[in-house]
Amino acid sequence: MATQRDRMDEMIQGKQVSHCSRPPARWRHELKGVLIRQMQIARRVRKLADEIERDFAGRDLVVVSLLNGTVMFLADLIRHLSLPMRLDFIGVSSYRDGTQSRELLLTKELRLEVRGRDVLVVDDILDTGKTLKCVLDKMRELKPRRIKVCVLLEKKDRRVEKVRADYVGFSIPDLFVVGYGLDFAERYRNLPFVGVLHPHYYQSS
Ligand code: XMP
Repeated sequence: MATQRDRMDEMIQGKQVSHCSRPPARWRHELKGVLIRQMQIARRVRKLADEIERDFAGRDLVVVSLLNGTVMFLADLIRHLSLPMRLDFIGVSSYRDGTQSRELLLTKELRLEVRGRDVLVVDDILDTGKTLKCVLDKMRELKPRRIKVCVLLEKKDRRVEKVRADYVGFSIPDLFVVGYGLDFAERYRNLPFVGVLHPHYYQSS
């Protein structure tokens, strides 16, 4: 039977998480608010892992994670998976020093063989879709059996490429977010929650 907590999680999935709570004092100067709390993330990540586990049961899974923003999400997600799996990384950099999208830069190639295998691509955030489109096009050339995509966050309003994720942690409004692996100019990745940066903070730097 679904518990109240389950129902809350279902409400969060695919819907806009738009209410911020007050950030811890240490971060109040830089952050407007906390958009997704540590406990919300933990519960949702466990649910995503359950879904993935069900969908890939009996398969030889290769998890391909995009560097660097997935670091926390990936670590939490895969520790809930008891499937046999292998892990590799692709390095793609687009927001290298701020919030402006730039040319995509491939910083690390895939090393594992994925031909004929089941691949789960893990990314931090699906925004315009340019990054994932580029990665998925590249992956398809390697002829995996199937590819599924898992993202922690998505901003639906900003999509310019026709890309969708099979597993979405949270759908968020068009705000620049940091924390839980996501950065601004390589900072804030260590925050255990997803927070919203004060626009004046990044606009002036
Ligand atoms: P696209 O637009 O290609 O973007 O879907 C995906 C990549 O852009 C970065 N990104 C963000 N990083 N806060 C961040 O820290 C954000 O709000 C944000 N939006 C996009 C991120 O690296 C992602 O993989």
